[in-house]
Amino acid sequence: MTETISISANDRVFVLTGAGISAESGLPTFRASDGLWAGHAIEDVCTPEAWQRNPALVWEFYSQRRAQGAEAQPNPAHYALADLERRLGERFFLCTQNVDDLHERSGSVRLVHMHGELAKSRCGDECGEPPVEDRTVYKSLGEVGRCSCGARMRPHIVFFGEIPLEMGRIEAEIDKATLMLVVGTSGSVYPAASFVHWARQHGARTVYVGPEKPLNASAFTHVVEGKAGEVLPGLFQGTC
Ligand code: APR
Ligand code: ZN
Repeated sequence: MTETISISANDRVFVLTGAGISAESGLPTFRASDGLWAGHAIEDVCTPEAWQRNPALVWEFYSQRRAQGAEAQPNPAHYALADLERRLGERFFLCTQNVDDLHERSGSVRLVHMHGELAKSRCGDECGEPPVEDRTVYKSLGEVGRCSCGARMRPHIVFFGEIPLEMGRIEAEIDKATLMLVVGTSGSVYPAASFVHWARQHGARTVYVGPEKPLNASAFTHVVEGKAGEVLPGLFQGTC
């Protein structure tokens, strides 16, 4: 029997996605045994100190991920969320921890990337210039451009120890949500892992979708075990 989640005309849906939703598109997750963090030390490629110490290694890591991301295609899970957004309109909000653009490429519009975006770069000295579109796969540090202030550009990625993006909007959307759907995240990184607790505090239904229970599984009113690309297409029932 396939599980379904009812959505009524009064429901406001907040969706949080993690690396798991892109797994069936061929992109590696972080904490699987063959994941991204298995091959790289976080402190070497995803911290402000790493950026100061070895910008070449940071750009090598993110250029490799840009190349992987460009090869990947959205999967049925991405399309199911874009379809749900079309049905719910402004009663739908998507926050992703992912830095790939598979949600956009499947049609999602009402979304924020709280950990940044692979397809953008920004000033490495944080001078205040806004991020710019940049999909270049750099082969050497010498190829990386400069900001108008003269600083080297960095990936528009939130490093560990930095503040996630769009938190004001995210908190406001969680406060309005009557249903939180969390897809494909291990619940090991904050503040994203606490969103489910915030939603439960004001009585929202909270649903997790993934092949294994997340660390914060006890906070969910409903856990649907399975792959996102197989579960999401038939998950949402009701008037919307
Ligand atoms: N469908 C759904 N979920 C899946 C699938 C799938 N096909 N395959 C794997 N998963 C689940 C795994 O069970 C795991 O719980 O995806 C989750 C991936 O967990 P992580 O690798 O920890 O990735 P994530 O939770 O997104 O990491 C959060 O940590 O390293 C930082 O900034 C990085 O955004 C990232 C954050
Ligand atoms: Zn600058």
